[in-house]
Amino acid sequence: MKGIELIKIPKVSDIRGSIGVVEKDMIPFKINRVYYLYDVPHDAYRGGHAHKNLTQFLIALSGSFDVHLNNGKEKIKINLNKPNKGLLIKSGVWREIDNFSSGSVCLVLASEVYDESDYIRDYDSFKLFVEG
Ligand code: TYD
Repeated sequence: MKGIELIKIPKVSDIRGSIGVVEKDMIPFKINRVYYLYDVPHDAYRGGHAHKNLTQFLIALSGSFDVHLNNGKEKIKINLNKPNKGLLIKSGVWREIDNFSSGSVCLVLASEVYDESDYIRDYDSFKLFVEG
C-alpha cells in the first residue's frame, strides 16, 4: 500500500540471544525522536490520527499489536509481532493501533520531534488532506 512499507531488520543471533540492528541507510529519514509505548492495556486503542509531515518506523520490540492503516484510497491491517520486522509509515496515512498483547512494547523511530500541529486528528480533515 502506498505510504507504508514493511522492512526486515537484520539480527545477529547466537546461543546468548539476538541483537536487532537498525542503521541509518535502512530507513529513509534522519531520526530526530525515539519513543515507545508500554504498559498498554489489552483493550486500549491508540493512534486515530495521521501526520502532515512526520514519517515513523514502528517495531514490536516485545509482544504484538494490530496496526490499521488507511492512505485515503486503501486500507490494510498489519499485525506487528516480531522485533525483526518494522513498519514504515509515511505522512498522510491514518493509523489506529489495537489488540495489544500483554507486556507488548512498541518502539517508534520518528523523523521529527513532537509537534502537535503536525497531527491530523479529525478524520474528515484527513480525507481533505489526502484528496487535496
Ligand atoms: P499520541 O501521539 O496521540 O499517542 P498515540 O498515537 O500513541 O495514541 O500522543 C498521546 C499524548 O502523548 C498526546 O497528549 C501527546 C503526547 N506525546 C508527547 O508529548 N510527545 C510525544 O513524542 C508523543 C508521541 C506523544
